[in-house]
Amino acid sequence: MFFHVLTLFPDMIMDGLNTSILGKAMERGCIRAEAVNIRDYTLDKHLKVDDYTYGGGAGMLMQAQPVYDCTMAVLDSIAKRAADEIIDDTTDDTTDDTTDNKENVLKDEIKDFCINSMDAKKTRVIYVTPQGRVFNQKTAQELAKEEDLIFLCGHYEGIDERVLEEVVTDYISIGDYVLTGGELPAMVMIDAIARLVPGVLNNDESAQTESFGNGLLEYPQYSRPRIWHDKEVPPVLLSGDHKKVEEWRLEQSLIRTKERRPDLYEKWRESHL
Ligand code: ADE
Repeated sequence: MFFHVLTLFPDMIMDGLNTSILGKAMERGCIRAEAVNIRDYTLDKHLKVDDYTYGGGAGMLMQAQPVYDCTMAVLDSIAKRAADEIIDDTTDDTTDDTTDNKENVLKDEIKDFCINSMDAKKTRVIYVTPQGRVFNQKTAQELAKEEDLIFLCGHYEGIDERVLEEVVTDYISIGDYVLTGGELPAMVMIDAIARLVPGVLNNDESAQTESFGNGLLEYPQYSRPRIWHDKEVPPVLLSGDHKKVEEWRLEQSLIRTKERRPDLYEKWRESHL
């Protein structure tokens, strides 16, 4: 999985993603991430990327041109990489000097063909916006199946509608509140998606059984010591009876979900009872 984040604040993205579990997953090559600076694509000689909104109103708007060119450059790089992978898979490199040149010309032709026939637009371009559908675990699972994801982060008052119409495939919000930009929401979504990619977490099971995996909140968990602040670990967890432990955990999940998230509890009841 390769995350491409189009942003005016690339350091914010890379500093955030390079740390902790995601940073380690990147070192191991399970996931890749790049932050592409939208400002690098402006044709304005002062490197301006925003302007006043037509019709008046407070604040500035990100302009269509740099956002469009930046998105196209990233889509192009994705198509080229995919074509390279096809070439690597279908040709062997046991050429000698005489066949070398002919082979390279052929490879370039195949590559151009792949790039042109490949629908680079297939790559999902997510505009991170409070005006989108609200992100949840199901969305994370759906997006984790993609090979590449592009996140477009807005700033100021947003982005010129015309370029959004041309490049965006998904409008996604992380909740009904407004942040100063799309970087934090993009990182939130990348974190939730990346941890579902095989190999990112040490224990594949932990992405399966936790909160929302089965539509319920996760049961309470305990570690050593057995008694802490006079509070004892529930004895069933020490019983060694796996069936009983499972039953207790489901019961606790239901109690917790009913109490903290009655909306989720009702959904679970409708589909299970
Ligand atoms: N940009 C600003 N606020 C946002 C939110 N809640 N979700 C996604 N993108 C945003």
